[in-house]
Amino acid sequence: MPLNRARGPRYEVQGGAALHGTVRVSGGKNAALAMMCAALLTTEDVVLTNVPAISDVDSLADLLVTLGVTIDRHPDGAMRLNASRVSTCEAPTELISENRASFQVMGPLLARHGFASSAPPGGDVIGQRPIDVHLAGFEAMGARVSREGERWLAEAPAGPGSLRGARVFMDYPSVSGTQNVMMAAVLARGASTIVNAATEPEVQELGHLLEAMGARVTGIGTQCVDVEGVPTLHGATARVMPDRIEAGTFAIAAAMTGGDVLVEDAPVHVMDAVVAKLRAAGALVEQRGEGCLHIAHDGPLRPVSFQALPYPGLATDLHAPMAALLTQAAGVSIIHERVFDNRMLYVGELRKMGAEIVSTGSSAIVSGPTSLHGARVRALDVRAGAAVMLAALVAQGTTVVDEAYHLDRGYERLDEKLRGLGVRLERA
Ligand code: UD1
Repeated sequence: MPLNRARGPRYEVQGGAALHGTVRVSGGKNAALAMMCAALLTTEDVVLTNVPAISDVDSLADLLVTLGVTIDRHPDGAMRLNASRVSTCEAPTELISENRASFQVMGPLLARHGFASSAPPGGDVIGQRPIDVHLAGFEAMGARVSREGERWLAEAPAGPGSLRGARVFMDYPSVSGTQNVMMAAVLARGASTIVNAATEPEVQELGHLLEAMGARVTGIGTQCVDVEGVPTLHGATARVMPDRIEAGTFAIAAAMTGGDVLVEDAPVHVMDAVVAKLRAAGALVEQRGEGCLHIAHDGPLRPVSFQALPYPGLATDLHAPMAALLTQAAGVSIIHERVFDNRMLYVGELRKMGAEIVSTGSSAIVSGPTSLHGARVRALDVRAGAAVMLAALVAQGTTVVDEAYHLDRGYERLDEKLRGLGVRLERA
């Protein structure tokens, strides 16, 4: 058996069941990760609730503990973080390489302690994922940025608390870049403006937590965020918003299998793009109450074309799951990926299951409907993994999804939740 197949858990999924029932969405991965990093900005407790039990949270928690942060976690999703005794501002390379969000310790460490060092971030292999936007922001605030071997070093001009507020233009509205620069700016001297900021809900959630900690931030959710630096921040409590990508994945799964599913605690107000595309594909999608989405079947699926874009466009993290759905739509759908340059890893895996998809660089053309069959496939990243899991739900026979640890990075108790909707699957 090749080495990569021996790594970690796998799923064995029996196809053919339409999903029925209710599923509850967990706390948002990307929101939680950034909010955990914000705890580095204060000596007081930051308490987060609704933190998802996923491995990306575990690995970031390990990193924060290594830096000296005390973390208490409770099974109900509450997490208390205290960074009163940060013992090092050097993030260990082996922990950084696991998780893209881990580079977001740089901004808060630099702001509060005047120094930070880290290897470039890890995470999914979905493109080049540079960090120039983060570093340019730190430099604009007066930091000296240098490279030592594989590590990046950032030093404030005159020690702790000496970053200067600045006007920062982001070459690209990077989500983690905006979050990192925001966290640096809240403790800088004077005013900062982040121009071409990312507007993703997870950036907004971080902004609101920073406000609750005493930061002065305006323009949250717009492309121009203003920050008036303050000398210190205090503790705060916040609930992590539900995961819009997990909610979208279950909605797509329900539509694709011709099921009838209530997705509870969905952040419906930030899901316009996926709801619009599912309706265009012929699914019945209705909001029930504030945070409930009901997805039902309404005849055969129709092809839809879409672009994966920064928010409020259709999230790049839902590109691969949507592509899986479109294998079941009667006709040709065209997909353009406009955020990452290597989001097409799922294409080869879906083809192993009989899908008719061709990809040309950043576009994919899906012809359907195809009758998919079980196969041995790999979860090549967290969302490519979601795409093969979804395809497995409609495939004839058994699909074995190797490298399921990628799914564990972003989907809490995925097997339990799918079983609750009537899917027969085993985790091995
Ligand atoms: C975050 C999310 C990820 C999501 C992505 C886009 C986290 C932990 N991850 O990733 O799930 O898919 O947003 O919504 O929150 N770029 C630059 N220079 C930089 C940084 C990024 O050019 O310094 C480019 C990237 O190459 C990419 C684009 O910006 O093309 C988007 O990246 P970014 O928004 O930074 O994504 P992440 O924050 O890494």
